[in-house]
Amino acid sequence: MTRRAASLLIDRIGELTTNDDAEGGRLRDAAVVIEEDRVAWVGPAAAAPAADDRFDAAGRAVLPGWVDAHTHLVFAGDRTAEFEARMAGEAYAAGGINVTVEATRAATDAALEVNLARLVAEARRGGTTTIETKTGYGLTVDDERRAAVLAGRHVDAVTFLGAHVVPTGADPDAYLDLVTGPMLDAVAPHVSAVDVFCEAGAFDEAATARVLAAAARAGLATRVHGNQLGHGPGARLAVEAGSLSVDHLGFLSDDDVSALAGSWRDWDGGAGPRGTVATVLPACDLSTRVPLAPARRLLDAGAVLAIASNANPGTSYTSSMAFCVATAVLQMGLTVQEAVRAATLGGAIALGAERDGWRDPSGAAQGAVGRIAPGARADLQLLEAPSATHLAYRPGMPLVTAVWRAGRRVA
Ligand code: NIG
Repeated sequence: MTRRAASLLIDRIGELTTNDDAEGGRLRDAAVVIEEDRVAWVGPAAAAPAADDRFDAAGRAVLPGWVDAHTHLVFAGDRTAEFEARMAGEAYAAGGINVTVEATRAATDAALEVNLARLVAEARRGGTTTIETKTGYGLTVDDERRAAVLAGRHVDAVTFLGAHVVPTGADPDAYLDLVTGPMLDAVAPHVSAVDVFCEAGAFDEAATARVLAAAARAGLATRVHGNQLGHGPGARLAVEAGSLSVDHLGFLSDDDVSALAGSWRDWDGGAGPRGTVATVLPACDLSTRVPLAPARRLLDAGAVLAIASNANPGTSYTSSMAFCVATAVLQMGLTVQEAVRAATLGGAIALGAERDGWRDPSGAAQGAVGRIAPGARADLQLLEAPSATHLAYRPGMPLVTAVWRAGRRVA
C-alpha cells in the first residue's frame, strides 16, 4: 500500500474533477501522471505519456483528496450521553467542551496520540488527504502545548484554540490574560493559526477582539468559530481582522453575508490580498440540530465557501467529508460540483494551502492542494462510481475506493 513508483499513470478516468476553471472544473476520459509527490501531467487518456507504473481507473471518477479545514482531533473520552440527551430534545451548550477537557487532561500522551492516529486513519480511508486540527481540550499552558505538538506529528495544519471556553473553575478575565499571554507564547512555535469561539457561553466580542489582536502581534493567522448557536459578531470580527476563515455560520445577517463576500473583492486568485473563507460544517449543524448554514446564499453573494467535517467528540463525531458533501447538495442547495469544490479547493484556500510552497507543521514546503493540476501535491481519491454526482445520488455509500496522498497510496 505504501510503495511509491517514480512515476504512476492513473489511466482511463471516466470523470476527473480538476477544479481548474479553464476546463470547467472537470474532464472526461482523462488520465493523470504522478511523479514522486506531485502531479506531473493531466489530460485526455488518449494522449497520456508512459510512466513506470499504470493504474487502470476503468471509467471511474477521480477527484482531489478532501481538504478538511476544521477538526478537533486531540481529545480523550466520549460524549455519547450528551448526544443522546440532545436527540431527546436538549439544546447544545458550549459547556460540554469542559467534559472533554477533563478527560483529555487526564490522558497520557500515548493515549492521545493513539486516538489521534486512529481518527486520521479513518479520515484517510474516507478520502481526506489534508487535515487541519485544533487544540482546545487542554486549556492549561502545558496541555495546550502538548496538544499542538502531538497534532503536528499527524496533520497538515495545527491551530491554537486556547480560547475555546473558560475552563471550569477559572476566572474569565484571568483566563483571557493567560490565553493571550503565556499560553499563546508557549503554543505559538507549534501552530500556524489562532482560533477563538465567539459565542454566548464562550467568548464575547471584546474577548474575541483581544484574542485576534494577540494572534496578530504574534504573527499568526487567525480563524473564528462564529454564528454557531445564534446571531453574533463572529463573522464581522473575522472579516475585520482579515482572518483566514470564519466557521459554522448557521445564523448570518445580510450584513454578515455581504461582509464575507466583499472580503474577496480584491483577490486575484494569487498571493494578493485575500478575504475570509466562509466554512460551513453540515455534519455539526445536523448533530446539534441548528439550522443548516446558508451555503447557497453565501455562494450567490460571491463568498468563497469551504465545507469541513468539524470532527470532534461533542458536536460532530464524524470525519466523513462525503457525508458533508452529500448533505450540502441534498439539504443546502449546492450542486455536486459546488460542494466538491468547497470540500477540496475551498478548504485549501481556508488553510492558505492552495498555493505551492505552503508549509506543514514540520516546516516542509508542500505542493498546492485542492486541485489536480501539474505541480500540485498528488492527492487524489478514486470513487467506485462513474462520476462525483454519485456522492449525493448514493448518499452514505462507501464510494471511496483508493486514496493517494503526496503520490503515495494511503488507502
Ligand atoms: O466546533 N464550537 C466550538 N467547538 C466545537 C465543539 C466542541 C465540543 O463541543 O466539544 C465545534 O462545534
